[in-house]
Amino acid sequence: MIEIVNLVFHYPDGRAALDKINLVIHPGEKVALVGANGAGKSTLLLHLNGILQDEGLVKINGFEVNKQNLPKIRSLVGMVFQNPDDQLFSLTVGEDVAFGPIYQGFESHIVDDKVKNALSDVQLSGFEDRHPFHLSGGEKKRASVATVLSMSPEYLVLDEPTAGLDPKSRKELMALLKTLPQSLIIATHDLKMALDLTDRVILINHGKIAADGKTKDILLNEEILHENDLL
Ligand SMILES: Nc1ncnc2c1ncn2[C@@H]1O[C@H](COP(=O)(O)OP(=O)(O)O)[C@@H](O)[C@H]1O
Ligand SMILES: [Mg+2]
Repeated sequence: MIEIVNLVFHYPDGRAALDKINLVIHPGEKVALVGANGAGKSTLLLHLNGILQDEGLVKINGFEVNKQNLPKIRSLVGMVFQNPDDQLFSLTVGEDVAFGPIYQGFESHIVDDKVKNALSDVQLSGFEDRHPFHLSGGEKKRASVATVLSMSPEYLVLDEPTAGLDPKSRKELMALLKTLPQSLIIATHDLKMALDLTDRVILINHGKIAADGKTKDILLNEEILHENDLL
């Protein structure tokens, strides 16, 4: 379970990006985080695996997100950044996908198995020796997903995963996300994807939760969308 209690976050310039966020997300839930540009979606996601920390409490399966628990937290929560260049930094796709399991301390033959399985899960079998720089946008995104799947996380967090993808790559990514058993927490402007993949929507506006409920109840309500600059 992900528990967030009174989370407040100020950037160094003093601006509040998150204002008393309280949330519980249960294992297996498929959640879309929606809100206008600058609402605080990315800032909230970055608290789920300890990249950002400020006031308030975030707990993952009972473990408080703090420096000491980071290895455990990073194994539980896989974060797929909006920009694949923040995720893929090695000379080969295989090294990038191996990075997590090596960090988790697995022996090399187990790491190799995990890399193979993760690449197969994202339909990139045989891409081990490819340079991440030379992949298409859709392949980069799926390779990014593989870098976290290789750690067998319980919660998969994705920041605007379909942004910038062409229709075919978007479809492939959505098909992949549909097959995953993990909890999904997806920040997105792609309301069609949210309707297709998620059961719950958390809507944020200026760093506060403006609505939280069934995906259809929120995303098919024009008044709510209008009030929150989503229509
Ligand atoms: N590094 C930063 N320093 C200062 N302010 C930031 C920084 N990153 C984001 N912000 C501000 O924090 C707020 C929330 O941003 P963000 O979480 O990126 O929103 P979203 O992902 O919903 O578009 C915005 O007002 C944004 O301008
Ligand atoms: Mg963002």
